[in-house]
Order: sequence, then C-alpha cells, then structure tokens
Amino acid sequence: MRIFAVSDLHVDYRENARWVSEISRVDFTDDVLILAGDISDSLERIERTIRSMAERFKKVLYVPGNHDLWVLRSKGVANSFDKFEKVRAAVEESGASLDTFHGRTTTIVPLLGWYDYTFGEPSAELRRRWMDYRACRWPAEMLERDVTEHFTGLNEPVPRPENPVVISFSHFMPRIDLMPTFAPQRARFLLPILGTELLEQQIRRIGSSIHIYGHSHVNRRAVRDGVVYINNAYGYPSEGYITAKRLLCVHEDAA
Ligand SMILES: [Fe+2]
Repeated sequence: MRIFAVSDLHVDYRENARWVSEISRVDFTDDVLILAGDISDSLERIERTIRSMAERFKKVLYVPGNHDLWVLRSKGVANSFDKFEKVRAAVEESGASLDTFHGRTTTIVPLLGWYDYTFGEPSAELRRRWMDYRACRWPAEMLERDVTEHFTGLNEPVPRPENPVVISFSHFMPRIDLMPTFAPQRARFLLPILGTELLEQQIRRIGSSIHIYGHSHVNRRAVRDGVVYINNAYGYPSEGYITAKRLLCVHEDAA
C-alpha cells in the first residue's frame, strides 16, 4: 500500500479538473491518497472531485483548505463554520474521511487549522487584497486567532500512534522556516496568512515522521528537527515554476 499526497487541486481551473479526470483508474486501487485541502469553493465540485478520487484509491483522506470554506457563492450557508460542517458531511458521503487512518505499519493523522499571525502581522495591503477576508464569514467578534484555536482544538486530543511511521497532514503551514528563501515575492507577502505554530506543537505531540502541508503552493521537501515536511501542491495553471503537478508517493506501507 503506497501513500500518495497532493493538495490545492483548485479544480475551478479547467486544466486542473482535466488532470484529476485523467488520473488512472487501475494504478492506485490498493493505495491511500492524502488530499490536503483547497479543492474548490463550490460544494458540488468538492463532492465531485472527492467521489472521483474515491473511485481510484482504496482510501482518500482530506482536510479542508481556506478556499473550501469560502461562503461568498454558497447559498443557504450561515458562515464558514456552517460551510465546514457541510463540506465534512459531503466529503464523508462521497467516500473520503477526515479521521485518523491506521495501516499495518503507518498511521495517518489529519489536522485541521487556520492562520493566526504567529508568522507575522498582515499588512494593510494584505488585508485589502487577501480574498479570505471577504469570502469567509465567521461568527461576530471572532478573530483569525479564535478561528485557528477552534479548528486546532477540534484535533484534540491528538493521537500518539504506536505504528513505526506516523504521517500527519494539514492544509496550513506549521512553521514559517518551511518557506524557501527563493520563494517568489507574492509568497513572502503572504507569510502572515500561511499557517500557525499551533500545528507544529500538535505535530510534535503526535510524533510525526512525515508532515504533508499545502496552501503555499511552493513544492518542497525539507527536514526540520527530525521531521520530513512535504508540500506537493498542484497549484494554479500559472504556477508551473513552483509546482511539479503530479501525484507524489510519500511512503510505502509494509502491508
Ligand atoms: Fe491553494
């Protein structure tokens, strides 16, 4: 059983949706797929994508990204927490899971999150331009920090698996030193909204050997304090210079 990972499919782009539809229906039937968020803001597209992946893989594991919780175009959705519940129900109905998965020698732990400015304070320009500030809606008085604590709180109590290999995954970035120094200016401008140190604390308590993350769209593999961090975002069509645009096998379970 191989474990593959990809994030940020953004199937609203026709070429991205085509890539998903062309994934083999025979090559991955014994394998697990980690989908680390940002499929689409459309619930219907999220459902369709998950269903098509669930037909191809033995097991699909998912956490939502920020785009998945946009409510700007969602009818009958009170706020982004309500959208989260609807996404969770639709995803589980379509054949994926947001729960910890145990293979024979590998455990995979999904971690919910958001961003809380532990990586820096947002500039006035970022506040003006970052779409989440308009496309997400939170209950009155809730700040990003509260949203982050809410989602990371849902990960508690985090498991402490006994399997030899533990893989955790999140949409958001758990530590800022994962951003390469060659990162494009656009990505550096976005540092405050990339993630939260709360995720890093959970990863350490879980005892992860590998952590998969998305959101930055900068593909990379880096070792930090003994943990291998991998970003395999599919990204936007224009991001060919920072994304490999392929499924990545991150581990092979001994089963
Ligand atoms: Fe994304």
